[in-house]
Amino acid sequence: MITFGTLVQMSDQWWRNAVIYQVYIRSFADANGDGTGDINGIRSKLPYLAELGVNGLWVNPWYASPLNDGGYDVADYRDIEPSYGTLDDAKAMIAEAHELGLKVLVDLVPNHTSNEHEWFQQAIAAPIGDPSRDRYHIRPGRGIDGSEPPTDWIAVFGGSAWEQLDDGEWYLHLFDTSQPDLNWTNTEVQEEFQDIFRFWCELGADGFRVDVAHGLAKDMSFPDAGEAAELLSNAKTPNHPYWDRDDVHEYIRQWRAVLDEYGDRMMVAEAWVAPDRAPMYIRPDEYHQTFAFDFLDSNWDRDEMRARVAKVIETTASVDSVPTWTLSNHDVVRHATRYGLPKGTPWRKWLLDGPHDQLDAELGLRRARAAVLLMLALPGGVYLYQGEELGLPEVYDLPLDILDDPVWRLSGNTSKGRDGCRVPIPWAASGPSLGFGANDGWLPQPEFFSEFSMEAQQGDPRSILELYRSALSFRTDQLTSDPEITWDPAASPEVLSFERPGGLQCWVNFGPGPVELPEGATVVLASDPDFSGQMATDTAVWFWA
Ligand code: GLC
Repeated sequence: MITFGTLVQMSDQWWRNAVIYQVYIRSFADANGDGTGDINGIRSKLPYLAELGVNGLWVNPWYASPLNDGGYDVADYRDIEPSYGTLDDAKAMIAEAHELGLKVLVDLVPNHTSNEHEWFQQAIAAPIGDPSRDRYHIRPGRGIDGSEPPTDWIAVFGGSAWEQLDDGEWYLHLFDTSQPDLNWTNTEVQEEFQDIFRFWCELGADGFRVDVAHGLAKDMSFPDAGEAAELLSNAKTPNHPYWDRDDVHEYIRQWRAVLDEYGDRMMVAEAWVAPDRAPMYIRPDEYHQTFAFDFLDSNWDRDEMRARVAKVIETTASVDSVPTWTLSNHDVVRHATRYGLPKGTPWRKWLLDGPHDQLDAELGLRRARAAVLLMLALPGGVYLYQGEELGLPEVYDLPLDILDDPVWRLSGNTSKGRDGCRVPIPWAASGPSLGFGANDGWLPQPEFFSEFSMEAQQGDPRSILELYRSALSFRTDQLTSDPEITWDPAASPEVLSFERPGGLQCWVNFGPGPVELPEGATVVLASDPDFSGQMATDTAVWFWA
């Protein structure tokens, strides 16, 4: 029996099963024709999102910013970047989303500010030892004259994580040189962020995606780390000198207390940590969700995927929470491309080094169609990345001279960075920037984007867009009640299969040959538009047994 208490709890915990659509604002929709997406562009596409069947949107940082790192370099956390719009536009967008039943998540960046933030400007103008410098990690260097950086720490984007100031001291930046790290032991920093959470809650935000959630806390004895790191992948060592340190949980609890003042607000962690450490971030008084990056990272391999999915389900249940799945975001090679590469290809390197003829784009798309049925049938919440519903691949061959990601520069041109998954969305099959805006977009779209456009796919039952729509609509109706999962009804080593409460089964065929469904199966949805009774390789089916 459903009691009143259960109902209240379910609506308070709307995020547990929600599907959130990630909007990379710069590349989503450009309402004023300046080549950059904007808030009014998002407003114009809210009906599309509601019709797609998602429950909300997460907007990448939209704060005032020099945009050295796509807005993750925040100059003012309480204002909107002028090229994206105004605070009034943001308020209007939130209100309109709410009218359509869509939740809105903003992206909070607490590990670092922009060097244009007034705090950093004050710090570097102040004399050595001034309290304003304590909001950051500003320290003397090593060596007789202090000309060596304080530690050997390497920035995620490449090069030393320390930059020297004119007065001889050094500041820490784990990312771009224009992103100085905040000192989270400083209570002023802590209080400021509690206040920023309040500011956006008051403005109507339903939740927060928290950037670099495994960062923030640093080993204040500043030991050498003795290592180099690949982009966002070196955080799997617990209590590393600057990643995944136990003291970070103290700050998370402070924010949770603020959110709890507002009732049903939530936050999701971007924490690239070891799978065993991830549940610590979603203990009852911490984050509500944390992305299951281990699922995103998996090869297209039945046993590997099954093991990773099962592990996430098990570890999240251990803290009475549910998993949060995602296949792509603005930091990784789009999965329609990853799945089209030979197993084990280091995809970040492949962007520059190739060989590019290894890519089987059709295979990647077939697997992407199967992958979304797999993901949407799993218990828990889901995040989709803009354009994946169109099957967009990575644009790996953008001209080198237009690359914008700081990774390209800071890696000394040895890593191409993340621009290839940030190319403006093709809304129309023709016209300027394929309907993104009235003029060219900030990154060029390849010609083949026309076939992938929303306009070209809309209403075509064979399209991946219509597959997403059907799957999302069915999921909302049938798959969101209970987090239980029963593994392996197919009993085949080549099929990843499970059953959900209510009896729906999801089968994914990873094997080389076709697979028969059980006698009497009633098919709900197949990833293969040519499905006719047998499951081909690299396809998925939802059915009632
Ligand atoms: C996160 C963001 C990424 C950004 C980095 C620094 O990983 O997702 O885009 O570059 O943090 O803020």
